[in-house]
Amino acid sequence: MIRLKSWTAGFSFITSLTALLMAVSSSAYTTSSAPLNYRNDTQMNEFIDDLMSRMTLEEKCGQLTMSAGHWNNTGPVVKQGGLDDIKEGRIGSFLSVYGADMTYQLQQVAVENSRLHIPLLFSHDVIHGFRTIFPVPIGQASSWDPDAVEEAAHIAAVEATASGVHWTYAPMVDIARDPRWGRIVEGWGEDPLLCSAMTVASVHGYQGNDLSRSDTLLACAKHFVAYGTIEGGRDYNSGEVTERTLREVYLPSFHAAVDAGVETFMSAFNDIGGVPCHANPYLTRGILRDEWAFPGLVVSDYTGIKELLNHGVADTREKAGIRALKAGVDIDMLSDIYNELPAAVKAGDLDISYIDEAVRRVLVAKYKLGLFEDPYRYCSGKKEAQQSLTHEHRAAARELAEKSIVLLKNNNALLPLSKNMDSVAVIGPLADEPHSCLGSWAAAGKAEDAVTILTGLKSHLPDTQITYVQGCSIDDDDTSGFAEATNAANQADAVILVLGEHRDMSAEAKCRTSIDLPGVQNDLAKAIIATEKPVVVVLMNGRPLSISWLEENAPAIVEAWYPGVEAGNAVARILLGDVNPSGKLPVTFPRSVGQIPIYYNHRNTGRPFDAADTYTTRYLDSPITPLYPFGYGLSYTSFAYDALSLSEAEINEGDSVEVTVNVTNDGEREGSEVVQLYIRDLVGDTARPVRELRGFKRVFLLPGEARTVHFTLTEDDFSCYDAAMTWRVEPGRFQIFVGGNSVDTLSKELLIKGK
Ligand code: NOJ
Repeated sequence: MIRLKSWTAGFSFITSLTALLMAVSSSAYTTSSAPLNYRNDTQMNEFIDDLMSRMTLEEKCGQLTMSAGHWNNTGPVVKQGGLDDIKEGRIGSFLSVYGADMTYQLQQVAVENSRLHIPLLFSHDVIHGFRTIFPVPIGQASSWDPDAVEEAAHIAAVEATASGVHWTYAPMVDIARDPRWGRIVEGWGEDPLLCSAMTVASVHGYQGNDLSRSDTLLACAKHFVAYGTIEGGRDYNSGEVTERTLREVYLPSFHAAVDAGVETFMSAFNDIGGVPCHANPYLTRGILRDEWAFPGLVVSDYTGIKELLNHGVADTREKAGIRALKAGVDIDMLSDIYNELPAAVKAGDLDISYIDEAVRRVLVAKYKLGLFEDPYRYCSGKKEAQQSLTHEHRAAARELAEKSIVLLKNNNALLPLSKNMDSVAVIGPLADEPHSCLGSWAAAGKAEDAVTILTGLKSHLPDTQITYVQGCSIDDDDTSGFAEATNAANQADAVILVLGEHRDMSAEAKCRTSIDLPGVQNDLAKAIIATEKPVVVVLMNGRPLSISWLEENAPAIVEAWYPGVEAGNAVARILLGDVNPSGKLPVTFPRSVGQIPIYYNHRNTGRPFDAADTYTTRYLDSPITPLYPFGYGLSYTSFAYDALSLSEAEINEGDSVEVTVNVTNDGEREGSEVVQLYIRDLVGDTARPVRELRGFKRVFLLPGEARTVHFTLTEDDFSCYDAAMTWRVEPGRFQIFVGGNSVDTLSKELLIKGK
């Protein structure tokens, strides 16, 4: 079971909302102790002390500066003058430069031609695979399988490090409650516990337990913090968040990353209540370093320091740089402002200790990676060729894709389809679109490696006649292909209709005011479903879509997300019953954009919905319930829950309780179920969420097999912030729920008695 007992511990640092508001908005917040020499490694510290004693101020600022590679037809290249910058010590790290040859050449310039021979750090966005592309993170989260997510991160690390990459900007651990925000695709969904579990798994997968190994790299928890609160779901916008929500919803996954040993953090683009995260010492020094004792590196987001000018919190580049550095941002990604800071130090506007502290962290990271020992250990052409897109890596990508697929609807057990069909029509603009199979952050992935759904179906149905018609494009209003599509449908035994969003519609800066199927795809669905053929809708998208019409009218719906390089094989194996779907939604699906924000762990309100009473919380034109709730997903078999029991009906504050439930596979196929445990604190000092996930387990059951599933709930699981923001258990009544999603559950009441 995934239980993260410590992810909320120690949050009583600021004890009142007033104090928080003062701290968040005060740039004068100072840390009590600059964590110099914070790593307990004498040899390393002596090495770094010696190196730093020989560095000029300019060379120090160079270590804090990250430059970017860009791409031409042959691969990554550095900017004009970039090689001179390396030689003169003005660059300490690179973004988006990879490839064994390229990184070897640049490293050689740094190590052989710069005065102090300090190796470079190469970073890249390896978000859901490097060359072998796995499902996008929101898809991976749908697996509720941290072990599989860890393996995916490990494989990505193996491939990326062989291509010279030392540092990935993953995992993104932002909670997302707004599907208009394109970056919802990059995260683990809406729940703090699920998000924390996936975060821990992926940090372990990337970093392993020894960073000096040549197949592990630095992970990065991003974007610190509350990026998902941006107003209107519009990227880069301002956010507002209360202390309670910050600490209960947005911070736990970051804290989990620290506890898992993540080496780096990235600041978020947004401001919170007017304080940009790149200039917020309360967050970066106060919470991250002082409360959580994070010893690692903090990197800015892309030009995030320069953007302090646009935010309007600095009127010169130098002041922006000083604010960011003082706030705790160690590396300047792409603003090229930290290289200007020597003047501020010489003018007495910046204490050199801020620079020294940040430089030390950069050098520690390089040391831990083993780069001072062997700067070329990560750029091996041989390994790059041998370890890229191997058969085993593809198999792991396919298995995770299979686990990430969510069966949303299956009327009259239409699925799985028979393998003996004479003819199948495959229709839709995403049925044969390889780029969208890969998803939004495809790193070194190549479209030609991707198995599209059409290709996958053809190889899994060798004796079936398969007709493919695109029908329409993704986002224009041309319906001229409908006739050919309906004609193909009419002649087929079954139709597989592949709809959704192009991968570039769900990503950074790809926000939408509508979350309907784009273009005329819904009309295409209407035309195809009107043929009355058995129609299976397969969705490829990076955000929850409002698909109420499909839910009412399509016989079967499968959410595939962007499944990765093995998309077609995974989808085919699910549709044809080689694999029983087991994915569960990590995020609520609204009925319409008007319900946003909608999430399962909301509070009850003073007037909960009552159909018989107008003056209760409601809409005039829509139910308030989601289309599909958090944790939802069907299977080709069915699971019955019974005998929910607690080891005690009453416990004392501080004690634990055992929860057991029987889960039986009462269908005819083997399958996996994700058993979910939620709690509700029925009466608290403050209004508590109606449900909060506190544990989950994936169980595999043969037909007819039953299993008793155990959970242990501890003091931490029952704790929350009281009205004075003290983290504690509030004695009283709790409801415990267990089931296969956040709505359909058994429940029992527990009484916690005060001391
Ligand atoms: C901007 C994005 O916000 C961040 O997630 C990414 O890691 C950097 N660009 C680097 O590509």
